[in-house]
Amino acid sequence: MNGRKVLLIISGGISAYKSLSLIRLLRKSEITVRVILTKAGKEFVTPLSVSALCGGKVYCDLFDLDDEAEMGHIELSRSADLLVVAPATADLMAKMANGLANDLASTCLLATDKPVLLAPAMNVRMWENAANQRNIQTLINDGSSLVGPNEGDMACGEFGLGRMAEPEEILAAIKASFSSGCLAGKTALVTAGPTYEPIDPVRYLANRSSGKQGYAIAKSLADLGAEVTLVSGPVNITPPSEVHLLQVETAQEMLVAAQKSLPVDIAIFTAAVADWRIDKPNDQKIKKQIGEPIPEMEFIENPDILAIISALPKATRPKLVIGFAAETENLLENAANKLSTKNCDWIIANDISGDVMGGDHNQVALLMGDEPQ
Ligand code: C5P
Repeated sequence: MNGRKVLLIISGGISAYKSLSLIRLLRKSEITVRVILTKAGKEFVTPLSVSALCGGKVYCDLFDLDDEAEMGHIELSRSADLLVVAPATADLMAKMANGLANDLASTCLLATDKPVLLAPAMNVRMWENAANQRNIQTLINDGSSLVGPNEGDMACGEFGLGRMAEPEEILAAIKASFSSGCLAGKTALVTAGPTYEPIDPVRYLANRSSGKQGYAIAKSLADLGAEVTLVSGPVNITPPSEVHLLQVETAQEMLVAAQKSLPVDIAIFTAAVADWRIDKPNDQKIKKQIGEPIPEMEFIENPDILAIISALPKATRPKLVIGFAAETENLLENAANKLSTKNCDWIIANDISGDVMGGDHNQVALLMGDEPQ
């Protein structure tokens, strides 16, 4: 769940206290949580306790100049992957069903383009009321999801349907909503970027890889529901928020990080790993001595991460291993050769003879070996 973001709206119901536990559970699952507390919500839990638990500021007022300057309500409404309303009172859901936007919570709910999960909480008669049921149906038709309400004893002394779902149930619903793509339940490893191979403390060998391709692939896998570990060499781009990022410098570190992230279902090796490294990098900066001979360096071969992981026994080998072939000549021939020598399932052949490295557009050929088992 690392990197997922939830905007939690706490409206005014007695079960607002349970939302404090929900915040803790979300953070324990490494889900970032921002909180909007409605005016009525503030009657049940304080902004201070919410802020202490979520580790950030609490947004309360639509017309707060400081909040608007820092993060406008439109931005706030889209800053998360999911909006969760817990407790969702009859009043707030009635506003939502009718498109009202007269406070920060209802405005964000109207302005958002993200999925919405509602955890209704109210008295059993209110829940059963025809107007409330009409509103619930409208919200479902409009695309909102519901968790609960549950049946049980109520704070008001009555018994029936209307209790807010328990924080653990809401967390499970949140996690399920993050895993709804065709790769839900699958795990993936992506290597990306270049590696830096040290010569001395200030110099290194590297290449022109920007990491863009690997980062885009990692994001797409995550968007399809996979749990993604991105092992990245040094790059200057922002990682997708929904992946687990392991930053490395050298090929050897990349191998260790890739092995650590196993087992996975899918492994995609987009990284431009340096083929060689300096055998013995200098501990101190190598000084240029005018008139002295240029220093000699001995190269040794780096581990081939793709080949090593492809060669793992079936029990630990990812079910689908995809390598890349970045070639300036004889593209398909070289790619086919890599497919068999590195024992991977698919190879993506990348013609880098033009202005491809670091670019935003690319055309590739996909070579598939035998059907992965
Ligand atoms: O042999 P070559 O570097 O052209 O192979 C490219 C493919 O092998 C890419 O998928 C790259 O990520 C992977 N590779 C690797 N470890 C290396 C060298 C390449 O994983 N040391």
